[in-house]
Amino acid sequence: MIRAFGPGRVNLIGEHTDYNGGLALPFAIDRGVTVEAEPLAESVIRAVALDLGEEDEFPLDGPERVPGWRAFVRGVAAELQAAGIPVRGARLAFRGDVPRGSGLSSSAALEAALCLALLAVAEADEPDRTALARLCSRVENDWVGAETGLLDQLASLNGREGQALRIDFAALALEPVPLDLGAWRLVTVESGAEHTHAGSGYNERRAECRAACEALGVEHLSAAEPDAAAALPAPLDRRARHVLTENARVDATVAALRSGDLDEVGRLLDASHASLRDDYEASVPAVERAVAALREAGAAGARMVGGGFGGSVLALLPPDVDVPDGAVAVAPGPPARRL
Ligand code: GLA
Repeated sequence: MIRAFGPGRVNLIGEHTDYNGGLALPFAIDRGVTVEAEPLAESVIRAVALDLGEEDEFPLDGPERVPGWRAFVRGVAAELQAAGIPVRGARLAFRGDVPRGSGLSSSAALEAALCLALLAVAEADEPDRTALARLCSRVENDWVGAETGLLDQLASLNGREGQALRIDFAALALEPVPLDLGAWRLVTVESGAEHTHAGSGYNERRAECRAACEALGVEHLSAAEPDAAAALPAPLDRRARHVLTENARVDATVAALRSGDLDEVGRLLDASHASLRDDYEASVPAVERAVAALREAGAAGARMVGGGFGGSVLALLPPDVDVPDGAVAVAPGPPARRL
C-alpha cells in the first residue's frame, strides 16, 4: 500500500501577493491530507473521499470535467499526463484533517498528496518541486476554476520543520527563515465563515489587480514604484497599495524574526490585517469578530489568513497568554512526502 501526505499551510504574512509577483512567508503545518493508493490493472482511477463517503471513477484517457472534490483528482491525473509523466490505473482513498474552506489550504494538501501518490503508483521520477507546484496550480486554475497563485502549493511541497519560507514570486526564489518563537505561540481559529476561491471575491480581486497593472504599465503590481498606487482610480488604488505595503511587511517580518523582536511581528500581523480589511476589502464580519476576540484574549497580533472572504484567523500569543478555546497551535512542519 502506497501512502502519501500533503500538508496544509499557514501564511505568516504576505497575503494576495503571490499572483502579484510579490513576497510571502508561509509554512507547512502538520495537518493535511493522506492518500492511500493501490495500482489497478485497468486504466481507470477509482477514488474515494473517505470524509465525505463519496466516490468517483474515471478513465485515464480524457476524463470529463466535473465540479467539487472530483475536479482535484481528475485534474491531477490529467495534468500529470499532460506534463509527460506516466499515470497508471489506481484505487485512491483519501482523508484529511484540515477543515475544507478554513483558509489553511486543504486544496494544496490534496493536490500535493495526490501527485505524490500517483507518481509512486507509476514508479515515476518526481519532477522538481517548483514544477510540481506549478502543475498543482494548473489543476486549481483549469479544473477547479479558482485563479489561485502558487503560494499554497509551494508551501505544501517545500515546508521545513522549524522554518518559514520567504518566497519571492517574481523570481520564484525560496529562502528558509527560522521561526524561533521561544515560548510564544502561533494559533489559528476558524472564523465560522467558510470560503471557496472559485465562489468568493478572490477572482474579482485578481481581475482588479490585472486592471491596475494595465493602467500602470507594469507586468505585475510588485514591479510598480512604492507610491504608484495613488495615481490609480478607486478601488484599484487601494488594491495596489495593499500589495505594495504587504510586500514591505513581509521583509519587515523577516527582519523582526531574525532579531527576535516578536512584539514587532505582532504589530506587523495587525497591520497586514488592517490592510486586507480596508484596502483589499477581503474580510467579512465573522473574521472581524474572530480577530477582535483573539486580540481581547491577549494576542500580540492577529490577521486573516489565505484567500479571505471567510476562513481562519492567525494570532501570535505572548508566553503568558493561554491558548483560547477553539484555537489550535500551529508550527512549521515537513513538506509533502511518501509515508
Ligand atoms: C489563496 C490562494 C493563494 C494566495 C492566497 C492569498 O490561499 O490559493 O494562491 O493567493 O489565497 O494570499
